[in-house]
Amino acid sequence: MKKNFEKYSKYYDLLYKDKNYQNESDYVAGLIKKHNAQAKKILELGCGTGNHAAILCQSGYSVTGLERSADMVSLAAQKNISNFEPKVADITDFELNGKFDVAVSLFHVLSYLTDNKNLLSCFTAVNRHLNKEGIFIFDVWYSPAVYVQRPETRVKRMSNDEIEVTRIAESDIHYNLNVVDVNYEIIIKDKKSGVAEVHNEKHPMRHFSVPEIELLAAATNFTLIKSEEFGTGNTPGSDTWGVCFVLQKK
Ligand SMILES: C[S@@+](CC[C@H](N)C(=O)[O-])C[C@H]1O[C@@H](n2cnc3c(N)ncnc32)[C@H](O)[C@@H]1O
Repeated sequence: MKKNFEKYSKYYDLLYKDKNYQNESDYVAGLIKKHNAQAKKILELGCGTGNHAAILCQSGYSVTGLERSADMVSLAAQKNISNFEPKVADITDFELNGKFDVAVSLFHVLSYLTDNKNLLSCFTAVNRHLNKEGIFIFDVWYSPAVYVQRPETRVKRMSNDEIEVTRIAESDIHYNLNVVDVNYEIIIKDKKSGVAEVHNEKHPMRHFSVPEIELLAAATNFTLIKSEEFGTGNTPGSDTWGVCFVLQKK
């Protein structure tokens, strides 16, 4: 499978330094408290550079993180987060020692699984690694919002003392696949020398409807217990880009 985040993982934290990982992690911890109050052990799929894990570990959980990009795992490991173990692994096919109370997958990671085969094998592996009545919390792109709002061309610019990173995102919609290709051009400019390098990456993103997730859950021994706007808990609508789902192992 072609990998993304290969070229821009080292700029990831800079590009997302405006993302409110604290609020997001508090929201997820609230869902865990509500649906599995005794939970201690979390499995995180697509943990990236460990930004949610750092906060969840501070809140008293232990987190095992699975991440396909070795560069992201190395950046996560360098943060020396207590009770967090990031590992290089593919979330569509993994086998670990031990089971978990909760699985989480945050910031549209499951939208990176664009075909049914990979989604089914991921959900099956998650189910196998959860304790009885364990829960699976994830957010994905929501089909009604993609069709009504349509992805726009977006430019994001962030900088630190040394570099300025500009990321341009342009999208192609594949209506028959429930997939949007997000084409990123990332320009990294050295502030001192003015020299710039350019990287291009394509991120195919799948979007989902509630009945689709319900079917996926039923096929992999889960029950869908909640779907809501990520972060607010509002009922999803055609203006809700990111929807959070909570599944429970049967
Ligand atoms: C948008 S990033 C989110 C990272 C992190 N969860 C965060 O919130 O910062 C998506 C992550 O999913 C990872 N990913 C995508 N497909 C994967 C797969 N099949 N197995 C493991 N990780 C995957 C990417 O490498 C990337 O780190």
